[in-house]
Amino acid sequence: MKLVVTENYEESSRILADMVEQVIAEKKDAVLGLPTGSSPVGMYHYLVQDYQEGKVDFSEVHTINLDEYTGLEREHVQSFGYFMDQHLFSKVNVPAENIMLIDGTGSAAEQIDRYDRFLDDNTIDILVVGIGNNGHIGFNEPDTVFHAQTHLTELEPETIKANARFFEKESDVPRSAITMGMSAILKARKVVLIATGEAKAGAIERLFMDDTIDPMFPCSILKGCKDAVVVVDRDLYGRTKL
Ligand code: GLP
Repeated sequence: MKLVVTENYEESSRILADMVEQVIAEKKDAVLGLPTGSSPVGMYHYLVQDYQEGKVDFSEVHTINLDEYTGLEREHVQSFGYFMDQHLFSKVNVPAENIMLIDGTGSAAEQIDRYDRFLDDNTIDILVVGIGNNGHIGFNEPDTVFHAQTHLTELEPETIKANARFFEKESDVPRSAITMGMSAILKARKVVLIATGEAKAGAIERLFMDDTIDPMFPCSILKGCKDAVVVVDRDLYGRTKL
């Protein structure tokens, strides 16, 4: 696991976009694993800008998103599908049929089965992830076991609280979600984690302080990945004991 410390969030975002574009340059039909949340917004900005300048072509790319709240339609402003439409899909030329998203209002069993079939048949070339304050990846919350595959999960009170900032009130935050499991994260050819902001300092410090892989601290699974890079800015880094 490699740690990259950047000057600021802009530089972190630029580095992430470059990594994604590098993978597409080497493999036109690359499979991208994509996150939502505020941390990757800057990366999407650069991907869109570079597409508009003709520097990257998504016409053969496939994408699969990490997770989705249950109960929210794609049109709901807080659904991850809506986020992806706003920040990437409506602005670049990735074909609609190459986009894998979880339908938060569909049958969970069907969504899980569809995701697992895709993940059995395909390997993610680059998986970009954010991190929850409690170290969750996607919506893989702290648990006594690493869930192997895509699954339905109850959100931790801490996660509901953290994500309440995107909703009118905390009670509007869905209580459950469907998330890609740890097996897909472990299988990805490259995993890049972006973290920014004071609230993430504790998790990043813990991630690099010891060698333990612990399901109660989900992001620690990155230590088992073939190629994992953690990108943080100087401000966050300065708030850790690293
Ligand atoms: C949600 C998502 C995660 C994301 C996390 C952090 O819980 N399921 O994938 O990493 O939020 O979001 P942010 O980057 O806004 O702090």
